[in-house]
Amino acid sequence: MAKYDFTSLPNRRTNNSIKWQNVQKHPEQLPLWVADMDFIALPEITQSIHDYADYAVYGYAYIKETLVEAVRNWEKTQHGYSFSKESLIFVEGVVPALGLAIQAFTQKNEAVLINTPAYPPFARTIKLNQRKVVENSLTEKNGEFVIDFEQLEKDIVENSVKLYILCNPHNPGGRVWRKDELLKIGEICQKHQVLLVSDEIHQDLTLFGNVHQSFNTLSADFKEFTIILSSATKTFNIAGVKCSFAIIENPELRDQYLEQRLANNQHEISTLGMLATEAALTHGHEWLQELKEVLEKNVTYILDELTEKTKIKVMKPQGTYLIWLDFSAYELSDEALQEKLLNDSQLILNSGSSFGLEGAGHARLNVAAPFTVIEEATKRLVKTFAF
Ligand SMILES: Cc1ncc(COP(=O)(O)O)c(C=O)c1O
Repeated sequence: MAKYDFTSLPNRRTNNSIKWQNVQKHPEQLPLWVADMDFIALPEITQSIHDYADYAVYGYAYIKETLVEAVRNWEKTQHGYSFSKESLIFVEGVVPALGLAIQAFTQKNEAVLINTPAYPPFARTIKLNQRKVVENSLTEKNGEFVIDFEQLEKDIVENSVKLYILCNPHNPGGRVWRKDELLKIGEICQKHQVLLVSDEIHQDLTLFGNVHQSFNTLSADFKEFTIILSSATKTFNIAGVKCSFAIIENPELRDQYLEQRLANNQHEISTLGMLATEAALTHGHEWLQELKEVLEKNVTYILDELTEKTKIKVMKPQGTYLIWLDFSAYELSDEALQEKLLNDSQLILNSGSSFGLEGAGHARLNVAAPFTVIEEATKRLVKTFAF
């Protein structure tokens, strides 16, 4: 018997949801784009926010020791990663934390590498900070993205790359990078003195028996040049309350990062974010287990239906609740594909090309919704794209 409710669809049309905003005007559309979930949150999170609201004083707040311990304990028990209290730095979001790393560790015009297709704020943040984006293309092999390590090393050397932003698990491809792949990345970074920012925001959402390897658990040497970024916000659907963390074990890098955080006046964290994060990481184990079962069921259903009934190629995610769909068999331009999805299927998906050139003819679909929603969306796709 399920303990938590993953079947009710909350009405998000009236609560300022970015994902559901257009549905106010177009009630026939189903939104499966922005990476948040259409599920009711863990009750302890809601209770914690209620208790805070009842207190009726909302002034400046410091970071409680219990929050620090909740994060360290979660990392240790879920991911086998232990680190000192001093290494843990809170920032309002992973994307802001990424911007800080770019500012702290690179100069204008220096090169920052990403694997494309990539979560769009990576390239955006590099460009807006006037650094150079180096795109290392992922290639598809046996239905999953892989890194061409020879090309990666070449890209790093030819562009004098200073910083590499790795997405593990990968958005939009859902790869949970294996230990041997991560070791190669670490060795290349070490050899060429590249700092590594490892965005592990999807770390808890591994599916189908895949296991996340936190970068700093792989080798003591890697801790010297790695910045881990993560949060409870993706796992527990609390992105709106704002709270994330960086883990920087090298004291020199940490000081540089802290100085940049202060220069930007980004050292204060929302109280709601801190409360929700602590509640999630303290009470969320069973909720997360149930969530993952729901996500696996949704992924499997879409994969089976679309493979059997359409020419859409589904990349089965090893982690995340995002599915990368390949529509190239239909030979449509990106505009025509988006129009078809929106007008014929009445589905709002992320356009693949927003993730980079490799995304042409693709779209990203978010499966974090009750099964009934996923079933309806799949029916619409089948109807539009049937053989
Ligand atoms: C890889 C990745 N990093 C960061 C974020 C967002 O982080 P935040 O909301 O903490 O800025 C997302 C959201 O989808 C993501 O997929």
